[in-house]
Amino acid sequence: FKVLVLNGPNLNMLGRREPDKYGTQTLAEVMQSLIKCAEQHDVTLTHFQSNSEAELINTIHDHYGKVDCIIINPAAFTHTSIAMRDALLSISVPFYEVHISNVHAREPFRHTSYFSDVAKGVICGLGATGYHAALLAAIDQLRNQNN
Ligand code: DQA
Repeated sequence: FKVLVLNGPNLNMLGRREPDKYGTQTLAEVMQSLIKCAEQHDVTLTHFQSNSEAELINTIHDHYGKVDCIIINPAAFTHTSIAMRDALLSISVPFYEVHISNVHAREPFRHTSYFSDVAKGVICGLGATGYHAALLAAIDQLRNQNN
């Protein structure tokens, strides 16, 4: 299987950015351990981070027909981007929405998501472990075809 992991704006600052909310691991460290986990399950994992909505949309389009599922942390675009929601729907690939922090325990503007109602699953508040949980769930669902 092929899995694409997408990370939205400011996640390149992981490790330095509000560590009380987002932890001390860098994005490179989190993605490295995720790749290792994917390899152990014979899954090919690629990842891409951008601060630009257009780049994220173009990357989603570029993966049309090329991946079995997407794991995405849209970051602040979660709460604003109809365009990214539409991009994901346009390629008909199941996706999992991940948030490092528990968005529901934070400011009201973080309680709404343009992605959750069309996501296969949503994980939040588990820290970087959330990416692993999403990957394991994705592998399980792809293998068992119970999707
Ligand atoms: C986030 C939560 C968002 O509200 C925020 O804008 C982020 C990160 C998370 O991973 O907890 O940038 O998606």
